[in-house]
Amino acid sequence: MMQKIKRLQWDSKFSVGFDELDEQHKKLFEIINKAMGAYETQSKDLIGIFTELSDYLGYHFMSEENIMAEIRYPGREQHHLKHQEFIKKFIGFLDDYESGKDKIALNLLIFLRDWLFEHVLKNEDPGYSKFYKKSQNKENPDSKLT
Ligand SMILES: [Fe+2]
Ligand SMILES: [Fe+2]
Repeated sequence: MMQKIKRLQWDSKFSVGFDELDEQHKKLFEIINKAMGAYETQSKDLIGIFTELSDYLGYHFMSEENIMAEIRYPGREQHHLKHQEFIKKFIGFLDDYESGKDKIALNLLIFLRDWLFEHVLKNEDPGYSKFYKKSQNKENPDSKLT
């Protein structure tokens, strides 16, 4: 039996302060976890799920970059470049996968999972979230007490 790949788990402590983006992050985790399930059961759906993920990522990056612009987050250009760089790598993997290199699937899944974990939960996304929460506190000092 194939070893079960470790799943991503969203938790409310990872909230970025925007419901819309939290929902999208949850959905992204759901899709990547679904892809892992498809891989483990050797389902033919895997390629369709990769396509779903890449479409949804495009939509998510756009939503996130719009919000970063609205709140005038100073790190938004850097953040945008991280999204771009990721998309390039993802497309490279997909090309290899589609040209029949089946072993690519596991590497791709691990790459996606680890990137999402680092980007969404640890590094870039918490960056604008902290900036936003700080600016909210400045405008409304009482909110520190709640
Ligand atoms: Fe994000
Ligand atoms: Fe992001």
